[in-house]
Amino acid sequence: MYQVVPGGAGGTDLDALPKTPLHRASRPLVGAGLIGLFLVVSAVTAWCYYIASLRKAELLKTQLLDLNKDGYIIRNQGGAIVFHMQFRSGTLDLDSCSKEGQILSCSRTSDQRKLFFFIETVRPKDTVQCYRVRWEETVPGQPVEHAMTYGLAHWYGGALSATQHWPIHVLGQQAPKPFVTSDIYAHRNNFGGILESYWLSSNATAIKINGSVPLHLGWNDTEKTMSFQARYSDSPFRPNGEAIAELSYRVCVGLDVTSIHKYMVRRYFNKPYKVPAKVMFEHPLWSTWALHKTQVTQEKLLAYAANIKQHNFNCSHLELDDRYTRRYGEFDFDPEKFPNASAMFGQLRAQGFLVSLWTHPFVNYDSGNFHMCVQRGLLVREPMGNLPALVQWWNGIGGILDFTNTEARDWFSQQLRSLRTRYGVTSFKFDAGETSYLPWKFSTKTPIHDPSVFTRRYTEMAIPYNDRAELRSGYQSQNVSCFFRPIDRDSVWGYELGLKSLIPTALTISILGYQFILPDMIGGNAYFNRTDGATQKERVLPDRELYIRWLELSAFMPAMQFSVPPWEYDSEVVEIARKYTALHQSLVAPRVLELASEVLDTGDPIVRPLWWIATGDETAYKIDSQFLIGDDLMVAPVLEPGKQERDIYLPAGRWRSYKGERFDIKEPLHLTDYPIDLDEIAYFLWG
Ligand SMILES: *[C@@H]1O[C@H](CO)[C@@H](O)[C@H](O)[C@H]1NC(C)=O
Ligand SMILES: *[C@@H]1O[C@H](CO)[C@@H](O)[C@H](O)[C@H]1NC(C)=O
Ligand SMILES: *[C@@H]1O[C@H](CO)[C@@H](O)[C@H](O)[C@H]1NC(C)=O
Ligand SMILES: *[C@@H]1O[C@H](CO)[C@@H](O)[C@H](O)[C@H]1NC(C)=O
Ligand SMILES: *[C@@H]1O[C@H](CO)[C@@H](O)[C@H](O)[C@H]1NC(C)=O
Ligand SMILES: *[C@@H]1O[C@H](CO)[C@@H](O)[C@H](O)[C@H]1NC(C)=O
Ligand SMILES: *[C@@H]1O[C@H](CO)[C@@H](O)[C@H](O)[C@H]1NC(C)=O
Repeated sequence: MYQVVPGGAGGTDLDALPKTPLHRASRPLVGAGLIGLFLVVSAVTAWCYYIASLRKAELLKTQLLDLNKDGYIIRNQGGAIVFHMQFRSGTLDLDSCSKEGQILSCSRTSDQRKLFFFIETVRPKDTVQCYRVRWEETVPGQPVEHAMTYGLAHWYGGALSATQHWPIHVLGQQAPKPFVTSDIYAHRNNFGGILESYWLSSNATAIKINGSVPLHLGWNDTEKTMSFQARYSDSPFRPNGEAIAELSYRVCVGLDVTSIHKYMVRRYFNKPYKVPAKVMFEHPLWSTWALHKTQVTQEKLLAYAANIKQHNFNCSHLELDDRYTRRYGEFDFDPEKFPNASAMFGQLRAQGFLVSLWTHPFVNYDSGNFHMCVQRGLLVREPMGNLPALVQWWNGIGGILDFTNTEARDWFSQQLRSLRTRYGVTSFKFDAGETSYLPWKFSTKTPIHDPSVFTRRYTEMAIPYNDRAELRSGYQSQNVSCFFRPIDRDSVWGYELGLKSLIPTALTISILGYQFILPDMIGGNAYFNRTDGATQKERVLPDRELYIRWLELSAFMPAMQFSVPPWEYDSEVVEIARKYTALHQSLVAPRVLELASEVLDTGDPIVRPLWWIATGDETAYKIDSQFLIGDDLMVAPVLEPGKQERDIYLPAGRWRSYKGERFDIKEPLHLTDYPIDLDEIAYFLWG
């Protein structure tokens, strides 16, 4: 029978009560008595059984969580089910469970395997209830998997992806795969370069997986589950000692989605400790990349700067992108392309231009530094032995600097510092950093267990330059205090790295705790399109209308980045660009700067989803084409080709449109076919 755990209320003298009739039975009625006794014993047994299971049921409830052998559900304070998790790698033997204080623990699975399982209830504040869950196997090689039902709500967070939707849009089925940073321009189905093991739902529930977990993420759209799996077999995660998998995480439930997110960010995320240079929020930066690609030269850079001046644009800094060196992994200017770099920098400085340089973690095998890096052991190595691992990246084959090695970090910083002192380079664009450029298994000077920690180490290289530095990957890197850029966009309209992906991407990065967002180049990267029959040599201009819409949207992001300049089109585009860089500076930048200083304390987004101020509204949870800057500037760009109108959702409140209309509404308002000309973007100010 059930083992009754002491401490339950009542029932301690249950056994005494039903037994008393036995003593009253008289001898002549022995036959009937025996039958009676039998009935009574059965009744007693049934009663005990009943009471015990009642107790068991009691025992397996802890606060608003109900545990059973194959999972648990969590209710909110109103009693509605808001979270459901299923155990996939084993079921619990409930007889092995006990409760002590706020900790409910079990020690066996139903097939008698030993384990350490517990759920600890924590109530950090009146409005927040958290559950710390941990399942640890005792035998090596056994994975742990819990599957969360996502169908109850809309979910946000996790990782960037090539086709970005807001809320998360789960498609098809995926067996759990390593949850690590990856270049999604090259690997469209992987997890993106900015990633955190954190998810948030419209049901005011959030889950944060412990950073120590070798996390693999899978999903199944048929059963509407997302699987969190801890494993070491067939995985790039490396155990600390024995390969014993442990899955631990926290689930927290609050009153509404905004307040639970605020709680989680304050509690579990790193926060930046300073705000990047003010001018980066005010004036656009101008990159050579989409315009010149690797064909950039000294002459072209000087001409670019001259054009910016001539057209009366402001410039936070120029960004000299790939490629200014002869080989990748060197830090000198290619004398053929840049015959007099010192003179060039001097000239630019005299005209008031600051210049940042593109950089990356690779040292190609044909570069002058490769030999030295191999000899001094500065490169990431194969898992066995001392040979460097060769990796292929988009500019060839080489080694990758081992940023866990102090010597490698010092050497790299010394190169960057020397560029700074020799030429007055102001900062760097730190490209790549994703684990997809590492071998599946690798070894580093300081061992790392989670491959994405490599991404974090790389991002730390940007710290001395964070005033104007730009990163495109991040893992627990919120406190690097730099601008983070979502990976390169294509010059297309859609959700796959196109214009429509901009808002979902910015919102996702914000929810992951990175608030200094630098959107990619206006109009996209203008990559040549093989399927279109274009060739690399041809200059490709993004579609004019796409470029204008992209520009308008960028003006409402924390920073703006040009590459293909507006004068490549016509004077109307130049005028629109002037109008929006000026509006960015006068209307957006002051708000963003104020919010940016709050980020240091709170970690709250600058770019906010509509539900931030419209919690509990089903429509607001699904909108992916509007956003807020803070709480009082709402933006609704046109993101469709050929359209000069769009539907707009206006949350309840007092709003003033950019056209001067006033809306004082108690309920959200749907404006249908709201007219917006090509040179306009709809925005509404509070009050
Ligand atoms: C959970 O979310 C779903 C979908 O948004 C909604 O229908 C349901 O009412 C929510 N439940 C609670 C308790 O908020
Ligand atoms: C994460 O796991 C580690 C190692 O098991 C443990 O020491 C730590 O307390 C856990 N952190 C949280 C937030 O649960
Ligand atoms: C997804 O769920 C369906 C329905 O439960 C199941 O038949 C299928 O095998 C699952 N797929 C995977 C990859 O687990
Ligand atoms: C580079 O330019 C500077 C300043 O214009 C000049 O003094 C120097 O001689 C030039 N060097 C070369 C190698 O052309
Ligand atoms: C960022 O936070 C981590 C803890 O997660 C800490 O180890 C690191 O030193 C911090 N870095 C900076 C620059 O504050
Ligand atoms: C390439 O061209 C094809 C055909 O015009 C088009 O459908 C596709 O969207 C283009 N892709 C990119 C990345 O520009
Ligand atoms: C450039 O900056 C000046 C001064 O800050 C500002 O008045 C002007 O509107 C800006 N011009 C453009 C095109 O953004």
